[in-house]
Amino acid sequence: MLDTCGREVRTLRLSVTEACDLRCRYCMPGGVTLLRGAPLTAGEIMAIAQGAAKLGINKIRLTGGEPLIRNDIVEICEGISRIAGIASLCITTNGTRLAGLAPALAGAGVQRLNLSLDSLDESRYRSLTRGGELATVLAGLEAALAAGFERIKINCVLIGGVNDSEIEAFVALTVRWPVDVRFIELMPMGECTGWPPERFMHAEEVLQRCPMLAPIDAEGVAARYRLPGARGAVGLIRPMSHAFCGECDRIRITADGMLKPCLHSGTEINLRGLAGDALLQALAQGIGEKPTSHHLESGHSDTDRRMNQIGG
Ligand code: 5AD
Ligand code: SF4
Repeated sequence: MLDTCGREVRTLRLSVTEACDLRCRYCMPGGVTLLRGAPLTAGEIMAIAQGAAKLGINKIRLTGGEPLIRNDIVEICEGISRIAGIASLCITTNGTRLAGLAPALAGAGVQRLNLSLDSLDESRYRSLTRGGELATVLAGLEAALAAGFERIKINCVLIGGVNDSEIEAFVALTVRWPVDVRFIELMPMGECTGWPPERFMHAEEVLQRCPMLAPIDAEGVAARYRLPGARGAVGLIRPMSHAFCGECDRIRITADGMLKPCLHSGTEINLRGLAGDALLQALAQGIGEKPTSHHLESGHSDTDRRMNQIGG
């Protein structure tokens, strides 16, 4: 289905929980956080995915919070991957439970995996995530590589003065493994909203630090580069320094069933309790209402939700 600006909306990012077993400093506050609402049930998720497929969505990405903390995540994946019209099912995970789950997810029809990983240094990783164990996540990555996913991408959020010293080490992962590494500009939302300007780096810096990176193509919102002889690509995702709304083909649904036409807009359409035609109509309204662009360059996002509530 086309939105009002003529963009073909093909991708649905569906958050299956806003809970997370990590507490990344830019995303979540420390301590216990109250959840906004009960997460969608597996049945509600299936109904939404089926409705979206009828409207021309052919790619679904499950996000969170951390999707793999749901006990029924494998069943959810099995169900979605069987829907006619869904050509691609992906998951974004922080990797804490990947070592055990990678084979079951691949078996359930998940083709692609995005792994969030912001540091390759054990103690920095522990500090950034408030307690995460790097070795567990790297074991998860190896399990995913062995499980035969079509593609694995590592998402690294650049934080000036915190992990930018690791840019070269992240780029080197594309030589060692057949994985893509994508550097994402930190967006002022959630816990990092008031952080000092030096934390918000331009992803262009990656090209300065690694001049051997040669441009290859653009893939959705990512500009891609490659080191000579590398097995994977390096992607730059620049929501802050480059408006890419024209290339955005996605809608998002929060874990409590609100459809967000744009990540950074406050507009939300409630899908909870809807079925049949009413659900289809609400989904169609959300696609049609995708705004032309966001206002991030003014330094803030118009949403009052954190990333764990929207699903990235
Ligand atoms: N800016 C940029 N990326 C963010 N993520 C979470 N919060 C932010 C933010 N403020 C990332 C996570 C994950 C993806 C789902 O979104 O690190 O990779
Ligand atoms: Fe969890 Fe992702 Fe937020 Fe980190 S960024 S706390 S892994 S939801």
